[in-house]
Amino acid sequence: MRILTGDRPTGPLHLGHYVGSLQNRINLSEGTEQFIIIANLQALTTHWKNFSLVEKNIFEVVCDYLAIGVDTNQTTIFVQSTIPQLAELTIFFMNLVTVNRLKRNPTVKNEMKGYGFEEHIPVGFFTYPISQAADILLFHPTHIPVGNDQLPMIEQTNEIAASFNHCYQKNIFSPVEAVLSLTQRLPGIDGKEKMSKSKGNAIMLSDSFDTIKKKVHLMYTDPDHISIDKPGRVEGNVVFTFLDIFHKNKDEIEELKKNYRNGGLGDSTIKKILVDDIENFIAPIREKRIHFSNSPDLINKIIKNGNERAYAIAEKNIKEIKKIMHLL
Ligand code: TRP
Repeated sequence: MRILTGDRPTGPLHLGHYVGSLQNRINLSEGTEQFIIIANLQALTTHWKNFSLVEKNIFEVVCDYLAIGVDTNQTTIFVQSTIPQLAELTIFFMNLVTVNRLKRNPTVKNEMKGYGFEEHIPVGFFTYPISQAADILLFHPTHIPVGNDQLPMIEQTNEIAASFNHCYQKNIFSPVEAVLSLTQRLPGIDGKEKMSKSKGNAIMLSDSFDTIKKKVHLMYTDPDHISIDKPGRVEGNVVFTFLDIFHKNKDEIEELKKNYRNGGLGDSTIKKILVDDIENFIAPIREKRIHFSNSPDLINKIIKNGNERAYAIAEKNIKEIKKIMHLL
């Protein structure tokens, strides 16, 4: 087993990242070699003007990894732009993918709407699934822990791997397996589909107690639950979605849900419980994170070592690929 995952450094990581894939990375990583790519080039496909934000967030994201317990003895953390072999492989793969196939990728479709590109789709953005396939396949991993929005990317990666093997008559790339988290996808505090920094509905792993309190206070509940004594809805109520994930005592949740449905339980009571649950979860992460963000030399050394390790593997693997393609 060899694990590879990645994140775009467009902001510090949040609870949605944790529930969706970070947790799985930690669980799977024991005794296993792991790669984490900080996809700064992919980040530029949507944030090309915010290049200094992307640069700054490489540091933030590495602090997040270390704070949640990523072990750098087993994990190679590296920055996409330091591995030019990824750009080479992306170009090789471009011959094997049609424009129509990219247009059908549901994640691309969704994001295209979200960013409002309409008729002005940047080519770099449009082709990023090919570049992500290169991120993955260059390192020959077996398992990719990701959130379920990334499934179309994994599917397309496996198609590209199969096309390459077929085209060059060599079984060089093996299919990779997505590892999904058991917990459902975490909604944003506004009750919208997905927690996301850019939508401003996220709780960051680095948030202070006061910020957590403020954000939980703003959380979407049941808009029709106007007075405490009236029955409230649990389904679609973000506070309960979070309690299901972060409250340890499951019997207590069932009791709370019952009381909320019957009427007599106020939003402020369930929110107070959730604030404590999230604080208990984030406090140790926050504390470690402060230590790491005050140690820039350590962070920069970890990134430098990771880049060097990844580069050596990338160079060896791209040589094999070019040989198969009869390239100099
Ligand atoms: N597209 C991923 C995201 O938005 C980030 C990513 C880039 C990635 N390269 C990767 C994930 C390779 C897994 C494997 O979260």
